[in-house]
Amino acid sequence: MRATLRLLILVPALGLFACSEPPPPPPPAPPFHTILDLKQFMLLVIDPAADLVWDSVKTIMSKKGTEEIAPKTEAQWTTVRSGAATVAEAANLLMLDGRARDKKEWMAAARRLTDTAEKALKAAEAKDPAAVFAAGGEMYEACRGCHQRYAAHLNNTTEAVK
Ligand code: HEC
Repeated sequence: MRATLRLLILVPALGLFACSEPPPPPPPAPPFHTILDLKQFMLLVIDPAADLVWDSVKTIMSKKGTEEIAPKTEAQWTTVRSGAATVAEAANLLMLDGRARDKKEWMAAARRLTDTAEKALKAAEAKDPAAVFAAGGEMYEACRGCHQRYAAHLNNTTEAVK
């Protein structure tokens, strides 16, 4: 009985040493090819798309009184949806190898942007200006959260986010 037990233990252990295979080849390079550095990505992709959401619903106060801006036509609503959808998906692109600054907090910050932009998208699909405005505010906080952690040099100006 004892001998059998010992054999059972030895055999798998031997198996491990017996076939010393060559190390696996490195994983192939990912097929994507990013062309923008992070700053350009913010300026050319994220920021203009976010502006489509933020500019769509607002209150303008002037001498003439208060004017409420909100999308009215189908095309205007499509513009808001497009902006929100672009921000939501672009935030996924922030997670790509080479762009992501780490695997944890950066990912959470990017995910937060996707989630808040998705809210804005749903609000635009429901053609609900108040909900677009609220989700836009949450999106803004998602931008700011990441900038505070990873782009401290931007924090002193409101232009940092908008
Ligand atoms: C996951 C992190 C992250 C999120 C989320 C994020 N940003 Fe950024 N952003 C950065 C970093 C890092 C920089 C600094 C890049 C640099 O200077 O190299 C930056 C820079 C910028 C800049 C400044 C570019 C310049 O002129 O230097 C703008 C504008 C900007 N972001 C807009 C936005 C907007 C708008 C959002 C939200 C809709 C957003 N960002 C969300 C990380 C993020």
